[in-house]
Amino acid sequence: MTQIIVVTSGKGGVGKTTSSAAIATGLALQGHKTVVIDFDIGLRNLDLIMGCERRVVYDFVNVINGEANLNQALIKDKRCSNLYVLPASQTRDKDALTKEGVGKVLDDLAKDFEYIICDSPAGIEQGAMMALYFADVAIVTTNPEVSSVRDSDRILGMLQSRSRRAEQNLEPIKEFLLLTRYSPARAKTGEMLSVEDVEEILAIKLLGVIPESQAVLKASNSGVPVIVDQESDAGLAYSDTVERLLGKDVPLRFIEEEKKGFLKRIFGS
Ligand SMILES: Nc1ncnc2c1ncn2[C@@H]1O[C@H](COP(=O)(O)OP(=O)(O)OP(=O)(O)O)[C@@H](O)[C@H]1O
Ligand SMILES: [Mg+2]
Repeated sequence: MTQIIVVTSGKGGVGKTTSSAAIATGLALQGHKTVVIDFDIGLRNLDLIMGCERRVVYDFVNVINGEANLNQALIKDKRCSNLYVLPASQTRDKDALTKEGVGKVLDDLAKDFEYIICDSPAGIEQGAMMALYFADVAIVTTNPEVSSVRDSDRILGMLQSRSRRAEQNLEPIKEFLLLTRYSPARAKTGEMLSVEDVEEILAIKLLGVIPESQAVLKASNSGVPVIVDQESDAGLAYSDTVERLLGKDVPLRFIEEEKKGFLKRIFGS
């Protein structure tokens, strides 16, 4: 059975595209045939993060409008043979994503793929609602700040009332929390919310905690999803997240402040 996973958030800029690219790559590296779709019409960030922006000829909206078939629009990943990207169009109007159109594309993809990852735009406009409508699983991406957590609660409301599963009285979407850009040091001083605070407010299952990391910017600049960088804290945290998504019980890492060694304390890092 194909699983449709939406990576969503209320607030913008919390790390959805970074997470979609990392999780899709992680699933593919584990041997699962995976496609990641950019629902952010007009922005086109996903293909940059995946490093395939120069290969985009046709996009999601072209397929919906019948101007290209899926085969023409899907971009095969350079590193991973069972990973594909369906890019967003850069210029079309945001209402191009219709329920019928999106539903048909997802049905077609489901014949071929085990996992369909939907990289949602932020908020609750058309693109975001279409990204979550058909989902079986939602990864609610949240930063450890009050505004981000509050907007996540809003998205949880949408998942529970405006999704296909809600409308058709099916088993509800499985909701997971992904806490990104986490800084243990700032949580400790109370500048930011702690893992426990966020878990308590949102009360959904924690899928992972991704530390604030320079490796993310480095990865996005080079067009290689950060999960490929297995030397980095963020890369390892995303790998753990994928393991949990696949049902494994993996302990959390990078949630405690790193203890500075004697020399670091004296000379700084
Ligand atoms: N763990 C992290 N550590 C440091 N920077 C991060 C981390 N995760 C994401 N970022 C940075 O945060 C910014 C926003 O990330 P991203 O584009 O993935 O967010 P988004 O939720 O998709 O945004 P939008 O709502 O605009 O689609 C980027 O500059 C990215 O490099
Ligand atoms: Mg994005």
